[in-house]
Amino acid sequence: MYKIAVIGGDGTGPEVVKEGLKVLKKVSEKFGFKYEITMFDFGGERYLKTGKTVDEKDIEELRKYSAIYLGAIGHPDVKPGILEQGILLKTRFGLDQYINLRPVKLYNKDYCPIKNKVEADVDFVVVRENSEGLYKGMGEFQNKGTKDEVAIQISYNTRVGVERCIRYAFEYTRKRNKRKTLTLCGKTNVLTYAWDLWQRTFDEVASEYSDIKTDYAHVDATTMWFVKNPEWFDVIVTDNMFGDIITDLGAMVQGGMGIAAGGNISPEGVSMFEPIGGSAPKYTGKNVINPLAAICALSMMLETLGEEKVANAIESAVIDIVKNKLKSLAAGKMGYSTSEVGDLVVENIK
Ligand code: IPM
Ligand code: MN
Repeated sequence: MYKIAVIGGDGTGPEVVKEGLKVLKKVSEKFGFKYEITMFDFGGERYLKTGKTVDEKDIEELRKYSAIYLGAIGHPDVKPGILEQGILLKTRFGLDQYINLRPVKLYNKDYCPIKNKVEADVDFVVVRENSEGLYKGMGEFQNKGTKDEVAIQISYNTRVGVERCIRYAFEYTRKRNKRKTLTLCGKTNVLTYAWDLWQRTFDEVASEYSDIKTDYAHVDATTMWFVKNPEWFDVIVTDNMFGDIITDLGAMVQGGMGIAAGGNISPEGVSMFEPIGGSAPKYTGKNVINPLAAICALSMMLETLGEEKVANAIESAVIDIVKNKLKSLAAGKMGYSTSEVGDLVVENIK
């Protein structure tokens, strides 16, 4: 019995999660596993009413679940940063979800913005460190508000934090068993403390994985190659900030935010799965947002729970629809409504 914590969140989050839950119901019947869901009302509305984000008690509560299924966090009436830090980052850090796993896979070449690229050219995974780096929130102002003001923002990298991320990436590359190539994406030529530690750790761990080919790319060059030669990549490991940036580019290369999903993985604990696009306030309540990213996040959740067959069945249904039904992956242009796309996936589960 899987206990799933569901956080619809803000904007279009609840709408896309609803479609994901339709698919979950269908696959549980078809493949014969049991689950129960508990809804959590974390998000902008609750914050505006009560001033609450996520506290230690909420984190302790979430620890009781098999996994967390999240829609989106971000509300137009709340100052940027409050919900992101108070809910999303708080949960990632609180549950030690130290990996952010973001597959970049093109399901239909017509939706790739890069000329002459086909499905086989865009199939890689970014392993983003999810607990340290610039996201640690360390720093200070000096002489704030004066003409001599200084703002310092520190990238915090521990040997333990870097090593566990790199080890995860090597294991993942081995298990994925495709091109068996792991690329470290960094900035060794400028950020000579952080990336010296990353490079040394990477090289040491690599010596234990003789079956995995290794490579290195600076982050700026990585963005160039995402566009020029995405087929060079198999698995990429990088820090929190670079991972954040390159996966938005990755999402575009795979066809847009409508299809991009990610998992905040706590290998020893409770993981959280989400579509990586935001709360899209302007589309809220219109039944036009693409729920496939949320459905792909559901598939990742089931894979992580050990239901690989189920995850594959969902992915196959999504591929079928993206190839043969939808007119576009963008909100309002799919040729179907949000709920119709959810229904299409349900009907196509084989
Ligand atoms: C993401 C988002 C978050 C991040 C924001 C909303 C805090 O951009 O999941 O990539 O920066 O990690
Ligand atoms: Mn981001």
